[in-house]
Amino acid sequence: MSPRKPARPAASRRATSPRKAEESAAPASRAWVCEAEVVEGLEDIARREIAIHLDNRVELKAGPQGKPLPGLVRFNYTGGLRALLRLRTVQAVYTVHRFAVPRPKALLGDQHFRRLLAEIDAIKAAHPAGSFQTLHIDAAGADSAVMLRLRQELAQRSGLKPDPEEGDLLLRLRRSPGGGESWDALLRISPRPLATRPWRVCNMEGALNATIAHAMILMTDPTPYDVFLNLGCGSGTLLIERLAYSAAKQAIGCDLNPEVLACARRNVEAAGAVDRCQLEPWDVRALPLPEGSVDALSADLPFGHLVGSHEENLALYPALLAEAGRVARRGALFVAITHEVRLMESLLAESAQWETLAAIRVAQGGLNPRIFVLRRR
Ligand SMILES: C[S@@+](CC[C@H](N)C(=O)[O-])C[C@H]1O[C@@H](n2cnc3c(N)ncnc32)[C@H](O)[C@@H]1O
Repeated sequence: MSPRKPARPAASRRATSPRKAEESAAPASRAWVCEAEVVEGLEDIARREIAIHLDNRVELKAGPQGKPLPGLVRFNYTGGLRALLRLRTVQAVYTVHRFAVPRPKALLGDQHFRRLLAEIDAIKAAHPAGSFQTLHIDAAGADSAVMLRLRQELAQRSGLKPDPEEGDLLLRLRRSPGGGESWDALLRISPRPLATRPWRVCNMEGALNATIAHAMILMTDPTPYDVFLNLGCGSGTLLIERLAYSAAKQAIGCDLNPEVLACARRNVEAAGAVDRCQLEPWDVRALPLPEGSVDALSADLPFGHLVGSHEENLALYPALLAEAGRVARRGALFVAITHEVRLMESLLAESAQWETLAAIRVAQGGLNPRIFVLRRR
């Protein structure tokens, strides 16, 4: 067999204008193969959110031996991409496109290159014009001549700027899992990871990952009739994610530190939630709330690393659990995350107020804190 002719450089062929391609590649609804990145430990809750949110348009795939893949949820989905942008417990969603090619160089060939461009246009079409400015390829050997050429030509043809560091349009290339001679192109469906919330205009050291916060909120079984209390609210992550889920009868965030409360206020304003919540300078050890008046609670407790210290936590945690127990109504759920696992376990083992329903190990910033789901006895 004669050696295959090298593919003509895609950029040298006459192109449809990027705008035209974008318009023609904006299907209202079609079938997608998708992959969601999730915080390790939250696979089940993310699967549930995807199943509920996308209803009968989704088919969740099991990992090997029916077990979830760590940090990943794979699914088939039929519908518009915009519905996927509303998922809140996933870090990022990618559409997955399989190419029967032995190596990435073949993606420069006419047929594959056009397909890639059409998929990029489909992602762009799910967002307002101008949302994507740059294109980045994340792949082994991303600095090789082939990858640089692919990045350059894809960027040029889709009206984007190639970016060696990161990109609004993120294309990941990997050998297809399970072996065989094919490559998968994964396109992130949003210019930023979904975990990067538009409401975050003020950050603080030790702020909680918003997807973990949202998962914790789902674990409180929220209803619109709840009086909800976020203890030690910091920059407001749990409070804002609570209100993003649904209205509440009352939603309160409290923190002793006026600086972080000011930061929370800015985020709450950016989230458009000012009229729907209260931010209070309360000490979680002495809350000015009546006994049994709160339906659901959450807390991202000081881990004792970036925020607080282990010595302080030895006094803070028992006082906080007791005060939370005082203001919680019977049956109220309290969902708290901490890296002080032993301290929390030993306090809960002796608690007359709190029953432990679950302790879920998650990965955050190189640590493995636990989410404790507690019920007021
Ligand atoms: C880990 S941070 C919370 C971060 C927050 N989840 C976020 O995403 O920004 C813990 C918070 O507890 C607050 N805190 C510590 N002791 C407190 C107390 N006795 N009363 C009220 N807040 C307290 C700290 O000021 C800090 O903001």
